[in-house]
Parts: sequence; C-alpha cells; structure tokens
Amino acid sequence: MLPRDRIVREIHDQGGWISFARYMELALHANGGYYASGAGEPGAAGDFVTAPELGRLFGRTLARQLAPLVAQDPGLPILELGAGSGALAETLLGELDLDYSILETSGALRAVQEKRLGEKVKHLDRLPERWRGIVLANEVADAIPVHVVAWRAEGVMERGVTFRDGKFTWKERPASGGLQEEANKIRVPPPYESEIGLAARAWMRALCEHLEHGLILVIDYGFPHGEYYHPQRSAGTLMCHHRHTAHADPFARPGDEDITAHVDFSALAAAARAAGADVLGYATQAQFLVNCGITEVLGQANVENALVYAPIAAQAQKLLSPAEMGELFKVLAVGRGVTAPLLGFSRGDRSHAL
Ligand SMILES: C[S@@+](CC[C@H](N)C(=O)[O-])C[C@H]1O[C@@H](n2cnc3c(N)ncnc32)[C@H](O)[C@@H]1O
Repeated sequence: MLPRDRIVREIHDQGGWISFARYMELALHANGGYYASGAGEPGAAGDFVTAPELGRLFGRTLARQLAPLVAQDPGLPILELGAGSGALAETLLGELDLDYSILETSGALRAVQEKRLGEKVKHLDRLPERWRGIVLANEVADAIPVHVVAWRAEGVMERGVTFRDGKFTWKERPASGGLQEEANKIRVPPPYESEIGLAARAWMRALCEHLEHGLILVIDYGFPHGEYYHPQRSAGTLMCHHRHTAHADPFARPGDEDITAHVDFSALAAAARAAGADVLGYATQAQFLVNCGITEVLGQANVENALVYAPIAAQAQKLLSPAEMGELFKVLAVGRGVTAPLLGFSRGDRSHAL
C-alpha cells in the first residue's frame, strides 16, 4: 500500500487524527516510506546531498578524529547508524583499518550498503545489548519523527494530522502527557509553533544505555535550546527536500520526499546525561573539521592540478562556509569512560551553550 493510502487509513482508524510524529514515521520509515523504499538514498541523483556524498574530504577529516582512539585501543569497533549510500563507511575504511558495523533501519538502503561495501562491514539488526566502541550518526537524528506543538494564548496544543477534502491538513488538540510536560518547560511567546523530539531523546537515551565504554558522535543541523526555541523562530524547523529544493509543506508528497526537523542538541545532551553518559564536546561542523586538520587534508591535494584541486576546494567551501554547512551543522560528542581530550573539540568547544 502506498504511504499516502496507509496514512489515510490510519487516520480513519484512529478516529480522524494522528500525531505528526506518527505521520512522519509512516511517510519516512514504515513499509514503502521514503527511507524504507530506498527513495531516500542521499546523493546527486536523489533529493539532497550529505557531507559524505560531497566527496571524501569529510570522511578523511573525520578519520583523523578516530585514528588516535583506534591506535590507543586496536580493534575498537565502529558502529555507523543510518549509513545511507555507504559513502562515509567507504571513505573511513579506505583511511583506517576498522572493525565496522552498520545499523540501518531501511531494508532497501541496507541492500545498497551491502552491495557497495560487501564483506568490509557487518550489518546489525539492533543495538547490541552492551557496546564498546565508537558510534557515528551523520544526518540521522533529523530524520527521527518529531511531535509538533503550538503554544497558543489558550494553552499548549499538539498539532496533528487529519484528512479532509482529499488533503492532509493540520488539526490541533490540547497537548497531554509527556509532550505537555515538555512543552510547559519551554518558554516562548504565543502564538508559537515548533517541534519537540521525544523520539530523538529516547534514541539518545537508548544509545547511551547500551554504551558500556566509548564515544557517540552525532552530526546534524540544529541548535542548542535557546536558539531552537528563539522567539523569532516561531514557525518551527520542519523542512522537506525534493530534488535538491527545500520547502516547508510536509503534506506535499508523503513517501516521496524527505521530511526533517532540526535537532535540539540541548535535549540530546540532557538525554545522554540522564542515561549516565558525559557530554564530551559540542562544536560547529566547521570548527570540528578545522580542529581535526581539514586544512592539512586539503594540503595533501595537488594544488597545481586545477582539475583535481577545484572539486576538493569546493567540498571544503561547502563543509566549512557559514553560509553552507559550516555553522548550521554541529557535532555533539557524548560518551562513557573516555578521558583523553578529543581532537575535534580542542578549540571552540561550546558544550557550555547546551
Ligand atoms: C539523511 S540519511 C543520511 C545517510 C548518511 N548517514 C549520510 O550522511 O549520507 C538518513 C539515514 O538514516 C537512516 N535512519 C533513519 N532513522 C534511523 C534510525 N533510527 N536508526 C538507524 N538508521 C536510521 C535512513 O534510512 C538513512 O540511511
């Protein structure tokens, strides 16, 4: 059944209303959904390009953060969550000798990764009960379903989805339970709409609970709490991507395009701490990559040969420029039992802002 029909049926079965988080789950991750079907494979031919899809510069630089950790503890396993086309894994495996596993929720993308990476990676079906090693999640947290909330003069409302006159539309009802509790903690001037990532917090909590020793790196676009719920961001952060164009209507093509929300990094950090993990660093992607030595990686390219150098310089511009990914994208490191300072946060660590 097409995601659209499935959502219509579920709204009907649920008495005319489902939460936005459920809508997003069905549109992206349930059978036939955008990621589940493989339509959400990032890349030039898809709807959006991620840092590892730009080329190898991102992965080669990230490898410099991993190298000392692996050298210190040979055989330290890496677990990548949501590996998309497998581009990051391919680059990292080209740089370092790694014990590499992937946990991928989409069966179709798992097949793409298996074809590209073969025996070099293992695929896991679920988080290991106890995990020692390094977990990587690039642009995964933004795909985790969010609840949508409206702060109105009359109180906090949950924005859900109904189906009327052949179209999906928003419908509000008073927020309740844990969502209402979380919304009440957020001070914003009504009328104000935004997202609350309950599932992303649970995801982070689970990752930390399963982490016996090691590091989790979450890389994504987002903000700390104060900027996320800034009075001027009163329309929230929901964003859809279709053929390299962004728009803000999540009801336009359920199942055929990406639906995302920016990540509230303060909420992820709090979830990690609640699970007994430490926050080890938080920086903009640009700062992180510069700390890891992206300029040295760039310096290894042949500057004399414009055909080689120009595409690499273009990757650096995209990864570092404040107008592109440099400032909006952040790197959050949380972990357990990691005492050595991390290269990527040696300067400009902004954990205090979380
Ligand atoms: C936007 S893509 C990013 C892919 C890749 N990391 C990259 O940077 O190119 C999101 C990926 O996360 C996967 N995914 C979404 N939610 C997930 C979850 N809870 N656990 C593991 N993978 C997930 C999707 O199927 C997809 O592979």
